[in-house]
Amino acid sequence: MKIINISYRLPLSVKKQNTKTVFTPSSGGLATAVLSYTQKSEQKLTWVGIADFDRNTWENHKNEFEGNFEIEPVYLDRRLNRNFYNIFSNSVLWAMFHYFPSYMEYNEAAFEAYKSANEIVAKRVSEIYEPGDLIWVHDYHFMGLPKLLRKLLPDAQIGFFLHIPFPNFEIFRILPSKAKRYILEGILGSNLAGFHTWDNVIHFTECVEKLLGLSHRNFVFSQDTHRTRIGSYPISIDFEKFHNAYDKPEVAKLRSEIRELYQDKKIIFSVDRLDYTKGINNRLSAFESFLKKYPEWREKVVFLLVIVPSREEITKYGERKSMIEQSVGRINGAMGNYKWSPVVYQYQSVEFDKLIALYTSADVALISPVRDGMNLVAKEYVASRKDLRGVLVLSLMTGASKELQEAIAINPFDKELTGYRIAQALDMDEKQQEKRMRHMQKYLAKHDVFRWATRFLTDTIDMHDHDNKAQPL
Ligand code: F6P
Repeated sequence: MKIINISYRLPLSVKKQNTKTVFTPSSGGLATAVLSYTQKSEQKLTWVGIADFDRNTWENHKNEFEGNFEIEPVYLDRRLNRNFYNIFSNSVLWAMFHYFPSYMEYNEAAFEAYKSANEIVAKRVSEIYEPGDLIWVHDYHFMGLPKLLRKLLPDAQIGFFLHIPFPNFEIFRILPSKAKRYILEGILGSNLAGFHTWDNVIHFTECVEKLLGLSHRNFVFSQDTHRTRIGSYPISIDFEKFHNAYDKPEVAKLRSEIRELYQDKKIIFSVDRLDYTKGINNRLSAFESFLKKYPEWREKVVFLLVIVPSREEITKYGERKSMIEQSVGRINGAMGNYKWSPVVYQYQSVEFDKLIALYTSADVALISPVRDGMNLVAKEYVASRKDLRGVLVLSLMTGASKELQEAIAINPFDKELTGYRIAQALDMDEKQQEKRMRHMQKYLAKHDVFRWATRFLTDTIDMHDHDNKAQPL
């Protein structure tokens, strides 16, 4: 038995080393989650995803790949991929599911491309599937896939997990009818459909009831071929990895460099992919409002703002970058001086040790998405604070805020109050910091990524086995 794991991105990156092309495993949240689970449980794994390299490159270099799992790249025609990924997945679904309906750019060709990409992947999975395999489908790119697979492989064990929010009925209904039906029926092809929070579960079940006319019993929908359980499975991180990184000599060295550089200041830190859902402009406005309202903090605080490039081909992302850079310029221009820049801005990715050094130097982590399925940065910040110092300021619009109850909660749309919360976080005494960190760390040590994956996969298998043992539906 093997796990067939399907996500848009493959968990490997292609690097040019001098003149050589090398494939190495990559370490995004999803890849870390799935790979650490399969390593611990010693499960065999085949990963199916869309190739961002060409067939020849893979065929010529695949033997150099050092991961202990199989890779099955799917090659999509450039135009099809553009319509599937850039337009339907990211300019329709991403926008709508994050409550930005006015950013939606729906068109028929993009929806057709989405369906075709799901069909191509379904066919590839059915070719490598062997009876007993467990199929794990990830995210909004592949919501049609569980139904397509159920048709091709009626007895398969299929779990579907959505890594972004599922919106409420009033937002979801904006999609044209055929797309709505395709998505809901598609997800219901699985034995288990998982979401980050109960709110998302309720939104999904309400949409199914209202739009497909099906009713559920204890969050289980019965269909002719199988039943589908709907549940909440908040994703998490490898707690030990982040917690123990505090003591790495490389991290300690970088941390003392950062602290030395800002020795007379408090540090506010944030790191995000560049995305309009992350509330980066709201965060900058709140910081500006804080500096205006509490001038005594000027020159005594610095905001280290790290933004990781993402989806650069999509117009809304390019626009957002300019808006952020204008805000940084405005704040530094109006409030800074030759000795002090209030915002230190970096538009690049950060490697692991540097990230931990930044987390563990920061007095405050300011995390303010306007909508986020989970937000793993919040969990990483808390886990990495082995010294039990630091304060997490966290938006109520994130899945993580449902779990990290000892964070200082903010509404990212309320910049005055967020400014006040920043001041409160900077003033928090060490005893209070320690108490809050300890509680959150205890929670995360238990609710880590292994628990997430194990619960999800065990429940998928249980749901499938239960149906097979039961009388015909
Ligand atoms: O959070 C959803 C997600 O699709 C992740 O799986 C992914 O790592 C992230 O967004 C970045 O998106 P992309 O793969 O489009 O760069």
